[in-house]
Amino acid sequence: MNKEILKIENLTKTYHSQNVSATILKNINLTIEKGEFVCILGPSGCGKSTLIRCVAGFEDFEGKITACGKEVKKPGTDRMMVFQDFNQLYPWKTVEKNIQYPLKVQGMKDKKMLKEISDDALRKVDLDGKQKNYPHELSGGMKQRVAIAKALALKSDIILMDEPFAALDAMTRNKLQAELHLIHEQSGVTVIFITHNIQEALVLGTRVLVMDKKGNIIIDEQNRIPKPVTPASEGYGETWNRLHDALGQ
Ligand SMILES: Nc1ncnc2c1ncn2[C@@H]1O[C@H](COP(=O)(O)OP(=O)(O)O)[C@@H](O)[C@H]1O
Ligand SMILES: [Mg+2]
Repeated sequence: MNKEILKIENLTKTYHSQNVSATILKNINLTIEKGEFVCILGPSGCGKSTLIRCVAGFEDFEGKITACGKEVKKPGTDRMMVFQDFNQLYPWKTVEKNIQYPLKVQGMKDKKMLKEISDDALRKVDLDGKQKNYPHELSGGMKQRVAIAKALALKSDIILMDEPFAALDAMTRNKLQAELHLIHEQSGVTVIFITHNIQEALVLGTRVLVMDKKGNIIIDEQNRIPKPVTPASEGYGETWNRLHDALGQ
């Protein structure tokens, strides 16, 4: 059985502005299998966001990206981006309407079915009971979970997350990490998660990638530390140090 869900072949990305061109990513090759939780670490400015934006279909690029068997040319509901920004919901729609809206756009009209899907997605992100609330009534972390619920309701095969927890305090961050871990275990969705936090990569990732300053992937390995990962887990300190050295911090 072919479990490959994302294939990046010879991805090169050059930004052109006025009379300067800057090549940020050069000949990136990467294959991701269904259900993996891939954490990408790298120094600021190395091209992490650029990479995930190419996968999302927000950028043009050279090379080829295939997601769920289809060549990526534009954004698609098979690949949903969850942003760091908490204001990615429609403020004038309730939580459940926010989740249902993309399904309606896709042509789903059955109210009962829409309700079932949004209820189910909200249960998965532990927000049952918030159906009728508006985004301004939720905390930043809750809003982000609604954004994840939206992706789950759409049955997105791949969830793309670009430093989604970077702006949060440590406690909220830990809580959301635990919840995201659970969502991943229960839904089997594939996640590509960018972070510059080694602890976060080890807690969440089933696989960890490190990019260097020039945007090359210099480490690509399975995270073999058994979940739940804590700093006391066997292998944590050794792995943390190795990744830290690779990051050149
Ligand atoms: N739209 C753009 N136009 C020109 N240069 C850009 C653009 N977006 C990002 N860059 C440049 O590309 C490099 C990588 O950026 P980015 O992918 O955001 O890095 P990271 O997410 O790893 O911090 C940076 O040098 C940044 O200035
Ligand atoms: Mg970035």
